[in-house]
Amino acid sequence: MSRDWHDWYRGYDDPSSSLSRRLETVRACLESLLRSADRPLRLLSLCAGDGRDTLPVVAATGATVTGVLVELDPVLAGRARAAAPAGLEVRTADAGTAASYAGGVPADVLLACGVFGNVSDDDVARTVTALPSLLAPGGCVIWTRGRRVPQDPSTHAGDPAELVRSLFADAGFEEVSYVADESGFRVGVHEWPGPTRTPPAEGRLFSFV
Ligand SMILES: C[S@@+](CC[C@H](N)C(=O)[O-])C[C@H]1O[C@@H](n2cnc3c(N)ncnc32)[C@H](O)[C@@H]1O
Repeated sequence: MSRDWHDWYRGYDDPSSSLSRRLETVRACLESLLRSADRPLRLLSLCAGDGRDTLPVVAATGATVTGVLVELDPVLAGRARAAAPAGLEVRTADAGTAASYAGGVPADVLLACGVFGNVSDDDVARTVTALPSLLAPGGCVIWTRGRRVPQDPSTHAGDPAELVRSLFADAGFEEVSYVADESGFRVGVHEWPGPTRTPPAEGRLFSFV
């Protein structure tokens, strides 16, 4: 584990914080996807934390959702597991390797929130390129990126979220929505229009720096 994440979650304690507003934005994106679905959806959340961006939305919409939340920290994963409805499995595992989602893909909705600001540009590119192998046709990715985060791992000049957007575009994704908040957070939703791809030979997508 790259750091102790429990401190980071304190940002959620203040409902007016940038992190809390980011959470509301992610929840709204997920709610929109769940409410517009006319069939049960399969969900995959990478680095899911305690599932607060996902589980309350599933409960509020009453949507039929199955799938997997992957979180490395056992305490956070345990909280998510305690709150998860039947059908949503919480795995205490390394989300950086595709082996951790075995049986849980292809997903209709994939969350990569709080991931891209913690990995190198190469790993962001590797992950975005691999996402079509984790998504069902028409599947959507909800992702976040801070404009600049402490000890930012990106070497991209300018806003690293723009690099993420361009990687999605280059990989053939269609942008559904994009929010760039003045406080610094960015939330994107990208849809995969093609068929599910064969997974890349390299099973590792990213490692937190
Ligand atoms: C920035 S937080 C984001 C949590 C959640 N997605 C959210 O936005 O509220 C990053 C999370 O990734 C988890 N994490 C770090 N490395 C991981 C890995 N290799 N596999 C799975 N989870 C990991 C941390 O424990 C932490 O909960």
